[in-house]
Amino acid sequence: MKKNKVVIVGTGMVGMSYAYSMVNQGACEELVLIDINKERARGEAIDLNHGLSFAPRKMNIYAGDYSDCKDAYIICITAGAIQIEGETRLDLLHKNSKIMRSIIDEIKKSGFDGILLIATNPVDIMTYVAQKLSGFDKSKVIGSGTTLDSARLRYTLGEKLDVNPKDINAYVMGEHGDSQFVAWSYALCGVQPIYQIASRKDSKLTFDELEKIEDTVRNIAYEIIKCKNSTYYGIGMALTRITKAILENENSILTVSSYLNGEYGHEDVYIAVPSIVNQDGVREVIHLALDTTEKKKLDDSIKIMKENIEKLDL
Ligand code: LAC
Repeated sequence: MKKNKVVIVGTGMVGMSYAYSMVNQGACEELVLIDINKERARGEAIDLNHGLSFAPRKMNIYAGDYSDCKDAYIICITAGAIQIEGETRLDLLHKNSKIMRSIIDEIKKSGFDGILLIATNPVDIMTYVAQKLSGFDKSKVIGSGTTLDSARLRYTLGEKLDVNPKDINAYVMGEHGDSQFVAWSYALCGVQPIYQIASRKDSKLTFDELEKIEDTVRNIAYEIIKCKNSTYYGIGMALTRITKAILENENSILTVSSYLNGEYGHEDVYIAVPSIVNQDGVREVIHLALDTTEKKKLDDSIKIMKENIEKLDL
């Protein structure tokens, strides 16, 4: 297995935003683009190669096929239908689970035994589908989860508090979708609990505003879709962040979609919870002592995931 070889399945806007972000961050040595539209993948590879003299490092970028998967370290699956205005991510369940099945069949045939990173929506369920159909180790099948949502939360809080988003430590948990929630009891601005900031009399961040921020983060993708038909830069950068945590064996904490095996009182489900990510995939799911409101929200989110999984013939 080549430590720095990444395969992207799907050269749509998400796949190519991820590829573009990977090239600009010099995040791997070999990048393979696979798409059902081979000419499109070939054109994307040629186009990206032309920017290499501006990139931080050399990279071997080419359009390939599933035979290029065997020695890859990570395969990221971005292929699938995207939400159109008025659709939820869960509305993509049946069409994308069919696409996922066809992709996983090809990946299994290739002899790949690295890490699967799923971005196709509804991502928590597509990650579950990918793991079930592939039979791969559960810690080596990861979904992008709410990594992007947590970044949206950090950005929004940073804007409100006039603080660099990198210094905001806050997690969105649950479904990457309408039932996600913010674990406010663990949200920090630097070392200061957000709740403490909100409880101050003169605070520019009131408890009402926390609720509004949670709502904004939960729904902002619909706003973007209304403006420009789909989202791709944020998720592309989030996928690069997860990829670097894996390839550089970072042991970083990210709210990826992880398999629960008893944590939070649930099992046999993928959901976004803070997880330690390294070269082996998800090393550990962090079990936060959520408050009763947060625990109920997580339970409700998992219930929705399980109800939708029941609709699939796996
Ligand atoms: C979004 C897509 C990736 O939230 O679901 O932008």
